[in-house]
Amino acid sequence: MKKDPYKTLSRYYDSFVEPSNKVLRKILYRLYPPEQGMHVLEVGCGTGTNLQIYHNAGCEIFGIDLSPSMLAQARDKLPGNSNLSVGDASNMHYESDQFDIVIGMLTLHEMAGKIRTPVFAEMKRVVKSNGRILLVDFHPGPIEFPKGWISKFVISFFELTAGFTHFINYRSFLKAEGLQTLIRSQNLIIEKEKIVSGGNIALYVTKLPEYDIQLSSKNSDRIVTAHEMRNTP
Ligand SMILES: C[S@@+](CC[C@H](N)C(=O)[O-])C[C@H]1O[C@@H](n2cnc3c(N)ncnc32)[C@H](O)[C@@H]1O
Repeated sequence: MKKDPYKTLSRYYDSFVEPSNKVLRKILYRLYPPEQGMHVLEVGCGTGTNLQIYHNAGCEIFGIDLSPSMLAQARDKLPGNSNLSVGDASNMHYESDQFDIVIGMLTLHEMAGKIRTPVFAEMKRVVKSNGRILLVDFHPGPIEFPKGWISKFVISFFELTAGFTHFINYRSFLKAEGLQTLIRSQNLIIEKEKIVSGGNIALYVTKLPEYDIQLSSKNSDRIVTAHEMRNTP
């Protein structure tokens, strides 16, 4: 296995990033509140802070992450029966159509360009057809002045501190229009969108297209679902 880029950082990760990430987690939770018993997977779950929130809400939690040291932090935080795996999200061992919620938070931007689409396709494969993919990541803007410019400076500082490769991947993610390109590439439907941090961070609730084909006929604005269409002779 390759060197773990979070080997040293993992111990300080929560104290470093949680002051700013806490609010993002709250917004995401409110955008799509979970129900008790839901199966929730976080791709790139890191130290498990999101999973802890969904566990407290009565969900069954699953996390996958490339970094053994980040997962070690998650294991300290989460109950012993949590389903945590070291692995690459571009090739997950989960069965298809399994999760009510699949989360990707501040993870896709740090992957090399060629791996983002396969990871996203995997997220789409494992989510239930009536489930949701919740996404949070950096956004290319437009950036508001002055708030957005200050945030951009702080974000760039953190991304540089995380290492050269990390920074290059972050830059290429923004150049490729961030999450929007990935959402389009998998034909997902954006149900809710929120742009924060002066235009630097985007949060999305997305769903699969086949359960939301909405046809407005010429004479009526009645909504025909894909299910109805399949059952119509
Ligand atoms: C910035 S951390 C975010 C962690 C967590 N999502 C959170 O909100 O705190 C990004 C995580 O993505 C993981 N990651 C990066 N590439 C990955 C891949 N290909 N498969 C699985 N995890 C990956 C990293 O190891 C790291 O723990």
